[in-house]
Amino acid sequence: MRIDAITIFPEYFAPLQLSLIGKAQERGILEVKIYDLRDFTSDNHHTVDDTPYGGGAGMVMKPEVWGDALDQVLTPDSDLIILTPAGRRFDQRMAEEFAASKHLIFACGRYEGIDARVGQYYSQEQFHSQSIRVHEVSIGDYVLGGGEVASLVMIEAITRLLPGVLGNPDSLVEESHAHEGFLEYPNYTKPPIWRDIPVPEVLLSGNHAAIAKWRADEAARRAKNQL
Ligand code: ADE
Repeated sequence: MRIDAITIFPEYFAPLQLSLIGKAQERGILEVKIYDLRDFTSDNHHTVDDTPYGGGAGMVMKPEVWGDALDQVLTPDSDLIILTPAGRRFDQRMAEEFAASKHLIFACGRYEGIDARVGQYYSQEQFHSQSIRVHEVSIGDYVLGGGEVASLVMIEAITRLLPGVLGNPDSLVEESHAHEGFLEYPNYTKPPIWRDIPVPEVLLSGNHAAIAKWRADEAARRAKNQL
């Protein structure tokens, strides 16, 4: 998979060198490139924003600079993800869908977001027929300073689903959200008693059927407590 992110703060993406995502790049499973939006400006001040039509607070990111950046970064297989608190809510299902993509582009808006014509332009039929798809996505009902952290959240959730990224792919089977409404049972390791709190006895019993039942009951209890 190829992942590109376009941002005015490329340094935000430094953590992608670490841990599983860093290793996935070394192993060639994943190719990540970060673009500085200001490299696509043509004025001396490298301006990326301007005042909103219709008035109101804040600044809006200019469409020309985003268009120049995206024209260069888009390929015929791109899913263009525009991060915005007004987008569709990201969840595990969406992570699975994006994990099947060949090329993800994360467009990180700042301020009051990106001029709405950018998403509209690349949603047109001519791009659709090239298999370019535009998605406006929010990671949750709160407002961040920009799309960079939201992109990192999505990149981590998506890339750990790629074949070969996790050491043990069985980890994906019984984890929370692996299927609708499922939350994982609690996990324990040694020592058997820590600060007077014992590990549930059934887990030390070696009785696999009883352990499976206990885990299913605990998972159901967690799911119920969420409602
Ligand atoms: N930009 C600002 N807030 C955001 C959010 N909740 N999700 C995605 N992008 C954002």
